Amino acid sequence: MAGITITGFNHIAYPISTRHHTLPLYRDILGLAVIPSMVDGPAVIWTQMESGTMVHPIESAEPGKLGTFHLAFGVESVPDAIASLEASGIEVSSSGERHDGQEFGFINDPDGNRLEFASVNDRKVHGRICDEWGVTRNGDGPPSRHQKSDAPIRVLSVEHAAVPITNRKRAVTFYRDVIGLQIIPSMVEADTITWFGLPDGSMLHLVEAEQGNAHTYHGGFVVEDFDRAVDTIQQLDAENIRVGDRLDDRRALHFDDPDGNHVELVSNNPARSGHRIADEWGYTKNV
Ligand SMILES: [Fe+2]
Ligand SMILES: [Fe+2]
Repeated sequence: MAGITITGFNHIAYPISTRHHTLPLYRDILGLAVIPSMVDGPAVIWTQMESGTMVHPIESAEPGKLGTFHLAFGVESVPDAIASLEASGIEVSSSGERHDGQEFGFINDPDGNRLEFASVNDRKVHGRICDEWGVTRNGDGPPSRHQKSDAPIRVLSVEHAAVPITNRKRAVTFYRDVIGLQIIPSMVEADTITWFGLPDGSMLHLVEAEQGNAHTYHGGFVVEDFDRAVDTIQQLDAENIRVGDRLDDRRALHFDDPDGNHVELVSNNPARSGHRIADEWGYTKNV
């Protein structure tokens, strides 16, 4: 079927300083598996959560300056997605195929947020292998996977990703009408966040924020044991720790990674729904 058929998130990319500074949080504390990178650029680390969705920490090209965040949607067909975007007048800035046959294309949203559309991983045999720091080379072994069995937190899946926007009508029109995402009721009190539901149950949150507020970007990850996650992050003395309850009975823990990126961990209980409705712009009220 032609058009953009989004299935969920393929990966969330976080700009980091160096892998030795920041990867230990994602690998050793959050328990993400380090897998071989399928891109040639040595700065990109591929890590994966239990669901198969990935987090890509990307090392800075310039010491002291972080790169940019991006979000990658999984789509059924990248060529169809690219054709649909171009038919809507959206410029696809780069596209191609990775070592494992994964196809991709990049665009910017109306606020300049970088978005990627990617097909599933492992579409063909590649033989690439990596060490526990994600440094990857061509090889002939079975694909490597480095995961700490004793990590204190276990990230299961991506619950949502959040991006900053400055003009709600413009951004909602783009994500709803061009990308084809479906608005769902917001389950927080603030009326500055638009919630979209993706087919696999994950969500995109558009957050009205000041332009250039990089701290707004974040991934929200479901963890197996929320209380243990709170204890662990508090013991780490991470910056900007905040714990909150949502209106759907899920709990959220916010903190910063060692480079100041905003990370959120979400409890694994079923989300309560049915008591709120959203209008076409995502403004939500109780019923
Ligand atoms: Fe990416
Ligand atoms: Fe969030």
